[in-house]
Amino acid sequence: MKTALSIGGTGFLGSAIARRLARADFALTLPTRRRERSKHLTTLPTASVIEADVHDEATLARLMAGRDLVISLVGILKGDFRRAHVELPGKIARAAAAAGVPRLIHISALAAAADAPSNYLRSKAAGEAALKAAYPAATIFRPSVIFGRGDSFLTLFAGLLAVAPVVPLACPGARFQPVWVEDVAAAVVASLDHPESQGQTYPLCGPREYTLRELVAYTGKLSGHPRTVIGLPLALSYLQAFMMEFVPGGPMTRDNVRSMQAPNVCPAGCTLPFGLAATPLEAVAPGYLIPK
Ligand SMILES: NC(=O)c1ccc[n+]([C@@H]2O[C@H](COP(=O)([O-])OP(=O)(O)OC[C@H]3O[C@@H](n4cnc5c(N)ncnc54)[C@H](OP(=O)(O)O)[C@@H]3O)[C@@H](O)[C@H]2O)c1
Repeated sequence: MKTALSIGGTGFLGSAIARRLARADFALTLPTRRRERSKHLTTLPTASVIEADVHDEATLARLMAGRDLVISLVGILKGDFRRAHVELPGKIARAAAAAGVPRLIHISALAAAADAPSNYLRSKAAGEAALKAAYPAATIFRPSVIFGRGDSFLTLFAGLLAVAPVVPLACPGARFQPVWVEDVAAAVVASLDHPESQGQTYPLCGPREYTLRELVAYTGKLSGHPRTVIGLPLALSYLQAFMMEFVPGGPMTRDNVRSMQAPNVCPAGCTLPFGLAATPLEAVAPGYLIPK
């Protein structure tokens, strides 16, 4: 049996990858800051969820030993981007190289670039560079926004639409090409059978592009709360985000608004690699955005 270490693997995408790796007969170790939040993964027969500080280099070195595969998935939308998105991938890559781990896969984000408008996207680009400097053969995936049961995108909008009679929407014209969580997980696992994917970077997108306004309207229709959506101009989008920064667990920051200034869509004609077919949003979302 092969062994994998999935760092940041307890979250939305990591859980889908874990389920696939378990089916592919991998023994899987999933470090977490709080094991009790990852109970859903403890039922996977070959997965072991452990509490560990993955920022600690000695801990990382210990976790890497003897692994056939390491996946790097830690991502945040607010907070210390340098620590989570830049320093950590660098540490992971150095530890993986030192331990002789043969495959390293890293999840970045579509539109990551050194000159991107947001700290989130710039830090994702810097993290890719830090990772590649220590482990050039790493495979990097750059998904657009990811949808699926348990997502924090459409599900978040469904929650807002359920309570707000009118929705003042920041960045209504922001462009996305949402990709299904199972398609992202499938691409990650398929790359293991494609040695030519080492050292490559793959954008991951769904089959169609939407504006944020279209996605919110569609969510409202499916969740049984079709609302009037008022698109905010940029200055008011920043003001709304600024106010939300004072709300504990608030759904938006000014950095998120800056991220939405960069189109989150794939180059023409590109969706998934390795011959995989991208699943339409309309084939999946009605299964979890149900009227309540
Ligand atoms: N979801 C999307 O739409 C989307 C789109 C593009 C790219 N991505 C990227 O895909 C990756 C996975 O996203 P996701 O949606 O699955 O995220 P998620 O559900 O929020 O999961 C994040 C994971 O990172 C870990 N984590 C968060 N902050 C950490 C920290 N400071 N130190 C150590 N571990 C930390 C969490 O572990 P604990 O168990 O300790 O909480 C969890 O396992 C991220 O890199 C994200 O940037 C996501």
